[in-house]
Amino acid sequence: MGKNIWIVSVVLLIAVHGPSLSAASPWGANYFPNVALTTQDGETLRFFDDMIKDKIVVLNFIYTHCEDSCPLETAQLVQVYKILGNRMGNDVFFYSISIDAKNDTPDILKEYKARFGAQWTFLTGKESEVISLRKKLGLYIEEIQDGSNNHNVSMIIGNQATGRWMKRSPFENPYVLADQIGNWLDGWKRPPKGDSYANAPELRSMLQGELTYRTRCSICHSLTGQEPEGALGPDLLGVTQRREMNWLLNWLRAPNQMLKKKDPIALALYKKYNNVAMPNLRLSKQDAMELIEYMEAETQRIEGHSPEATTTTSVHSNGPH
Ligand code: HEC
Repeated sequence: MGKNIWIVSVVLLIAVHGPSLSAASPWGANYFPNVALTTQDGETLRFFDDMIKDKIVVLNFIYTHCEDSCPLETAQLVQVYKILGNRMGNDVFFYSISIDAKNDTPDILKEYKARFGAQWTFLTGKESEVISLRKKLGLYIEEIQDGSNNHNVSMIIGNQATGRWMKRSPFENPYVLADQIGNWLDGWKRPPKGDSYANAPELRSMLQGELTYRTRCSICHSLTGQEPEGALGPDLLGVTQRREMNWLLNWLRAPNQMLKKKDPIALALYKKYNNVAMPNLRLSKQDAMELIEYMEAETQRIEGHSPEATTTTSVHSNGPH
């Protein structure tokens, strides 16, 4: 068995000498299947050679008729993509790969990509090959095969050359994710972008509802009275006043059911917002109540402090009450 000890030390030596030897990455060409995938434009890309080799990548697995976590992830990635700015497509690449080859043709992927305003590559491939990819990436979960279950962990970010890979949750704050992709994976090779946190909200004590709101809702919604250009969902200031409590509770807990039941408000909103369906985020009643409480408090705060609702940043207001 002396021979095995030798092999182990050689492997250790290579590992210690680090990432400059690209052969040192334990996940190289002979780990990842070099399967051919088809982009939304009908172009063929090889998974290892064309998509991940020597790149920093974000990979996620989606299907276009998914009603829970995929739209959330897609919306989150749109934000991360914006934050990463000019590094996108330069040394950082995003890929969304469909796990539903039967329905998600290149044309359907193209339409999905446009609907979300996503700028990265969407791909489809042979079902068995996509399954083998997911297994290699540790992102294959048996029970989601029938499409009925949430697939929370379906995203992975990695740097092929250094062999660092991390699974990410779609509920992560987009700034944190962008920072990890841009700096952590890169081994701090570059100075952090000075403006990365410029838009981060001020810290103050948060209601539980606010925490939920920031991690799961703010990707698609503003809560300021001013809907930004290209927002995926409606601005939510005053929503607690324009909708009934019960309607809100039902909507927050199962928007997909409300659409299925052809609720007229839901249908009108769905049409107005470019047929992007709000995801079912599997919120508990408690979560939904806390969110409603937060949206109401925020509406009061903004409308109470400045009727024009133009600024939300002033901390000390001396105005009359
Ligand atoms: C992937 C994007 C997305 C996420 C994430 C999301 N929503 Fe939505 N939301 C929408 C869209 C789009 C609509 C419009 C209706 C539709 O198309 O389904 C909507 C509609 C709504 C409405 C109804 C607005 C009105 O004017 O009546 C409320 C309330 C709402 N969302 C709250 C939330 C809350 C709270 C969260 C977080 C728990 C959340 N949404 C997460 C996209 C999203």
